[in-house]
Amino acid sequence: MCGIVGYVGENSASPILIDGLKKLEYRGYDSAGIAVSENGKTDVVKTKGRIKNLEEKLEEVGGLSGTVGIGHTRWATHGAPTDVNAHPHKGGNGRITLVHNGIIENYIELKTMLQKGGYVFVSETDTEVLAHLFDYYYKGDLLDAMVNVMKTVRGSYAVAILADDKPGTIIAARKDSPLIVGLGDGENFLASDIPAVLKYTRDCYLLEDNQIAVLTKDNVTLYDTDKNVVKKDVYHVTWDVEAAEKCGYEHFMQKEIAEQPKAIHDTLSPRIKDGRVSIPELTLTDEEIKNIGKIHIVACGSAWHVGMTAKYIFEDMARIPCETDLASEFRYRDPIIKKGDICIVISQSGETADTLAALREAKSKGAKVISIVNVVASTIARESDDVIYTMAGPEIAVATTKAFSAQLAVVYLLALRFSKAVGLLPEEREKELTKELMCLPSQIEDLLNLTDELKTLAHKYVGSDDVFFIGRGLDYAISLEGSLKLKEISYIHSEAYAAGELKHGTISLIEEGTPVFAVATQDKLFEKTLGNIKEVKARGASVIALVTDKHASVSEFADEVIRVPVTDGNFLPSLNVIPLQIFAYYMAVLRGCDVDKPRNLAKSVTVE
Ligand code: F6R
Repeated sequence: MCGIVGYVGENSASPILIDGLKKLEYRGYDSAGIAVSENGKTDVVKTKGRIKNLEEKLEEVGGLSGTVGIGHTRWATHGAPTDVNAHPHKGGNGRITLVHNGIIENYIELKTMLQKGGYVFVSETDTEVLAHLFDYYYKGDLLDAMVNVMKTVRGSYAVAILADDKPGTIIAARKDSPLIVGLGDGENFLASDIPAVLKYTRDCYLLEDNQIAVLTKDNVTLYDTDKNVVKKDVYHVTWDVEAAEKCGYEHFMQKEIAEQPKAIHDTLSPRIKDGRVSIPELTLTDEEIKNIGKIHIVACGSAWHVGMTAKYIFEDMARIPCETDLASEFRYRDPIIKKGDICIVISQSGETADTLAALREAKSKGAKVISIVNVVASTIARESDDVIYTMAGPEIAVATTKAFSAQLAVVYLLALRFSKAVGLLPEEREKELTKELMCLPSQIEDLLNLTDELKTLAHKYVGSDDVFFIGRGLDYAISLEGSLKLKEISYIHSEAYAAGELKHGTISLIEEGTPVFAVATQDKLFEKTLGNIKEVKARGASVIALVTDKHASVSEFADEVIRVPVTDGNFLPSLNVIPLQIFAYYMAVLRGCDVDKPRNLAKSVTVE
């Protein structure tokens, strides 16, 4: 969701900015632009559409020369995705150039104030307010102006600013929107995320809220909003640039689906020793776990589906009451949190605005917050009491796959840990279950071999207008994920229903040939779901049954059968999701969709 890049050095800024923006494309955007300074003048080229449109426009104008610049990919919030609304924006008489991620909540009152002062607005964005406001406060000291702006605006932002009278300097700041500084030799970089700078440097400052960075080619200084210099540790990136590249795969999503065995293995193996679970990051004592009144889980989208799965598993294995909330609902419903309750926050990016707000809500009511996060040192990770990182590596495709699987792996570890603490997990059983867990990566490798079968299935159903997913219990939670994967990347309408709910309304939508994915892998619910399969079959549905090897008999009632290997029932979601992801992927490919960057979506949803 919006991406910022910046460069100051001795090389031509334009190609470095474009390259950086391409690395941030995964965040989702609908317009792009860059600004480059030379000889006290900053030129802007921006356009709606993709970065290739920006490159064409740059070519038309003969390129931009200069060794300092900022760039932006915009995901429209205030104002349509048009050339005018695209960033960078100019402030004052044009002497200030600015890019911004986030939302300025008090922009209307600020705009009115600035208009009264003679400022003329050309776009519909809240960002233009920031550019003019910076100009309003700028009397020759960039830091002063930035501090004043930060004290005046309400909302979330990462900003980068060029001032024509300060050639060779970029000033940047963040609050509730990610921003990193890449440290080079005779050059420095700015970006919303590490992949944008990784080609040039592995050393970064990960800016925190209310921090300001002033970059020149030879120096980076960080300040707080009282203008004190802030000392910060350099974060050294250990993962490879290839982790953020396609490496021969057609799409990032395809690559990330294939990386799931590794993501799960890397997440589990450091936390299982001699058949016993040990999560050093979790500071809860056995006593504290025994005294948990309720586990509150909050997350959005696919991470919420992991939370739905976790609810069934925690309650089954540890008998601790658990409630899973959409973060956007939790934060506004004045949730009841009692002494001893804990809150588990799940997020790949660690920056999702609603999830962060839910975390703060839970914390303010006294809950201890444990987060399951993929992006190291992200805001959610930093604000949690304990953070358990998923070891999925960078996830680039907007639709999550490997981070989802790694989150599930952490859920299993936590369930074992809780179950042990409350005395429900004898040592022998723990050994059996951890052994099962460690088999998941190879079982998933086997499922990845179903690709041809699933591609054939996709060919058969690619013309469908609606696809339904049904399941009970954990199978329902994974049906939600299968349905979201399909609709978000292929744009086919899809719904997931708890199989028992069908006859309370939805079954009226089933007609001759409607595809229904029936996930029926839970032993104790198999007969029940089979009943629901028969109900939709009787009304003409084309049933694709997803069952374990144990339940092959379903073939009598289904048009197609996909089989997953047998494992403990609570770990089956990890296997079940794989064919659903592959099916969704091929449906999207066959329909010619932009698989990695579905329309209207963003990877990191930093606005509420
Ligand atoms: C769907 C998807 C989204 C995210 C959701 C939360 O494929 O990726 O639904 O799961 O936006 O994002 P994070 O996990 O970054 O908080």
